Amino acid sequence: MFRRPTTSALLRLRLCPLRSGALLPKASPARIAPGQFARTDPSITVEYPEEKDMPSSAPVRRVKRTLGSFSLEGKVAVVTGGARGLGYVMTQALVESGADAAIVDLNGEEAIKAAAMLLKHFRDTNPDADRVPTITAHSADVSSPGSVKAVMEEVLSQHNNHIDVLVTSAGFTENFKAEDYPHDRMQKLWGVNVDGTYLCAVEVAKHLIASKKPGSMVFIGSMSGSIVNIPQPQAPYNAAKAAVRHLASSMAVEWSTHGIRVNCISPGYMLTALTKKILDDNPELKAKWTSLIPQGRMGNPEDLMGAVVFLASDASLYVTGADLRVDGGYTVT
Ligand SMILES: NC(=O)c1ccc[n+]([C@@H]2O[C@H](COP(=O)([O-])OP(=O)(O)OC[C@H]3O[C@@H](n4cnc5c(N)ncnc54)[C@H](O)[C@@H]3O)[C@@H](O)[C@H]2O)c1
Repeated sequence: MFRRPTTSALLRLRLCPLRSGALLPKASPARIAPGQFARTDPSITVEYPEEKDMPSSAPVRRVKRTLGSFSLEGKVAVVTGGARGLGYVMTQALVESGADAAIVDLNGEEAIKAAAMLLKHFRDTNPDADRVPTITAHSADVSSPGSVKAVMEEVLSQHNNHIDVLVTSAGFTENFKAEDYPHDRMQKLWGVNVDGTYLCAVEVAKHLIASKKPGSMVFIGSMSGSIVNIPQPQAPYNAAKAAVRHLASSMAVEWSTHGIRVNCISPGYMLTALTKKILDDNPELKAKWTSLIPQGRMGNPEDLMGAVVFLASDASLYVTGADLRVDGGYTVT
C-alpha cells in the first residue's frame, strides 16, 4: 500500500531501505514542491506487504455498539398520543431501536403526518437499511371503549396480527382550582388519562394472552402522581397520574403469569412545543419550575428515549410494576 508521504514520514523513510533494497529518493522539506506527490515518479518503487502482513479489514460501524437486549427488532409497538410531543419522540426511539410502530391518536391527520415524518427520517438516516419499518397511523379516542377496541383490531390487521409493546402517552392536563373544576371536564380528564390507559392496556393484554405471547407495556404517568406541583392547581390531574402509576403496578401483578410486564414512566417538567408556548407566555412560571429541579433544567422529550426503549425491550425482563422517574431529580428533594 502506498500512501502519499508526509514531510515527517518522508524524513523517516529516507533512512530505511525498502525490502527490494532500493532507497527512497532523498528529499528534504525545502525541496517539496506543490503537486510533487500528485505526479508519477519512476524513481519510487512501491512494494506491497506480503499477504500475511496485511491488516484485516474492519466493517464500517454506522451505529455505536450497545447491548443486543435493547433491540426491538421484530416487535410491533403501539403508541397512543404518538402524533405529537412526548409520544412522537418515544415512537421515534422505538423505531430507531428496530420496532415497527402504530401511532394511535385522537388527531388522525397529525398521526398520518407523524408516521410519514418518522419514515422519512428513517430513510434519510439509514439509506442502506435492509428493511424499512412499517409505521402506521390510526385515529381513535382512547377514552372510548368502542373506539379502543376498533383501533386495536385495525392495528392488528395492519401488523400481521402482532402487538408486542404498548406505550400510553395520550393524556392532558389543565389547571383549575379544585373548587372551580367543571365536573364534565374533570370526567374527560380522567377519561383520557386513566380510562384511556386502562382500556388500551386491557385490549392489548387480551391479544397477548390469547396468542400466548409475552409483551411489555409502558404507561406514561407523571411526577405529579407522586408530588403536588406548585404553584398551579391541578388536583384531578395529579390524582389521575397517581392512578396511572398504580394501575401499572396492579396490572403488572395480575398479568405476570402471562409474561406481560407493565411499568410506568413518570416524567417531570418536559419542554414540548406545547409547554414551551405556555412558558414563553409565563417566564415567571418557568423560573419557578426550574428553581425546584435539582438538575436546574426542564427535561427534553429526548430524555425519555432511553427510558422507553429500556422498559419496552428485553433489557428490562425482570422489571415489572416499577415507576421510572425521569424528572431531573425533582421528586427526591
Ligand atoms: N409535557 C410534560 O411536561 C409532561 C410531564 C409529565 C407527564 N406528561 C404526560 O405525557 C403524556 C404526553 O404529554 P405531551 O406533553 O406529549 O402532550 P401533547 O399534548 O403534546 O400530546 C398528547 C397527544 O395525545 C393525543 N390525545 C389527547 N387526547 C386523546 C384521546 N382522547 N385519544 C387519543 N389521543 C389523544 C393528542 O392529540 C396529542 O397528540 C401525557 O400523558 C402527559 O400527561 C407530560
